[in-house]
Amino acid sequence: MAITASPDVSDINLTDLETFVERTPHDWFKRLRDDAPCYWQDEANGRGFWSVTRYEDILTLQKQPLLFSAGVGGTSLDDLTPEQVESRMSLLDMDPPRHSRLRALVNRGFTPKAVKVYENRIRSLIREILVETMPLGEFDFVEHISVELPMQILSDIMGSPIEDRHTLVSLGDRLLGNTEPDFVGDLVKDQSDLSQYAHLPFSSPAALEMFDYALGLADLKRNNPGEDVVTILINSELEGDTLSEHEFKLFFLLLITAGNETTRHSMSHGIAALLQNRDEIARLCADPTLAGTAAEEVIRYATAVHHFRRTATEDVELHGQQIKTGDKVVLWFTSANRDERMFPDPNRFDITRTPNKHMAFGLGGPHYCLGSHLARLEIKVWLEELVPYLPGLYLNGPVDRMRSNFFNGIKRIPVRYEGASS
Ligand code: HEM
Repeated sequence: MAITASPDVSDINLTDLETFVERTPHDWFKRLRDDAPCYWQDEANGRGFWSVTRYEDILTLQKQPLLFSAGVGGTSLDDLTPEQVESRMSLLDMDPPRHSRLRALVNRGFTPKAVKVYENRIRSLIREILVETMPLGEFDFVEHISVELPMQILSDIMGSPIEDRHTLVSLGDRLLGNTEPDFVGDLVKDQSDLSQYAHLPFSSPAALEMFDYALGLADLKRNNPGEDVVTILINSELEGDTLSEHEFKLFFLLLITAGNETTRHSMSHGIAALLQNRDEIARLCADPTLAGTAAEEVIRYATAVHHFRRTATEDVELHGQQIKTGDKVVLWFTSANRDERMFPDPNRFDITRTPNKHMAFGLGGPHYCLGSHLARLEIKVWLEELVPYLPGLYLNGPVDRMRSNFFNGIKRIPVRYEGASS
């Protein structure tokens, strides 16, 4: 019988980014869920944080957004002054009621009915991308497919010119991939002093370029209004006032990064999981109506955002641990989505998994992903259109993972397409 070594809790270091390059440490998370469900993690460059890893616990914390606040310290692990928190505060980092007012501005554009309008556009775009890419034979799935679809759809929604998409993708990479040398060169967050940028989202100078881009687009839309989100934002009223320029820039940056990178990495994990589980390809090809449950499983299995951080606003006890006012508390969605208390055989990639009430979009709190219906639709249609190609598609080298304990990113997936089977 194979014996899987279980790591010692004292060996677990969730700030060790090299481990996240190699794998998502599901072995660590299982150990924590079983033996230390509220676990104190020291940080070399920070105050340390509590890690919450069980599904039910995260749900309980999410339901108390004022006790476990996004607004007090922000949602990243950075230790910030109140001024820095305020200066980088987007929708994601706000507490109710301020959060609810801002979210109401864009909510209507992201309901299931509103995003359904994009279905035909998504389908024709994917068909075009696949027809263009597959004849290459050997290619990087990330560059040619995962990067293209979400950003092109987002360009339509935001009203940004399609030819700017690679600029926006690269800015998004530098922002969310601020610990990945391939994206930021020497400005790697855990190895450089980025304190001069701490007032900017992700402590990243790329935010300034994204802000400039947002202002340029807003000018364009003032002269040429459309039905896009940027036109809505620049004309919107908030408490009888318009959105300030700063609020607009932060909102734009959030929508571009949240709407693009998450869906891209989910697709990349999805294709890797399918190519490593060819039985699931056979099931999907035999019955393409499984694309809906398969999309949900891709999103769970990928869990593109490993965690978000909250700050305790009162002393509170969890599993016998004393969380103090001001402590950082990290919600590990990636662990919740493999919690065996919630998901039978959680490490199995099962495209018919039902029920599948995963936490990849968050759950139970006010910050539940605004774009969840859009992401689900994109991934479902993408799977439907991939079906004819899947039997002839193979992994052609190792999957290259991003260096990050925040985003579960994939940089490259070499694949080989051998043509449709007869
Ligand atoms: C598979 C793709 C996606 C994943 C895994 C994902 C994941 C998440 C997560 C985990 C949160 C935070 C939830 C919480 O703190 O409780 C979030 C929030 C958010 N997401 Fe997504 N997301 C995805 C796609 C999208 C798309 C396509 C958009 C569209 C623009 C989007 C826009 C947002 C926004 C604006 C927020 C902040 C909502 C708020 O604070 O009220 N996301 N997402």
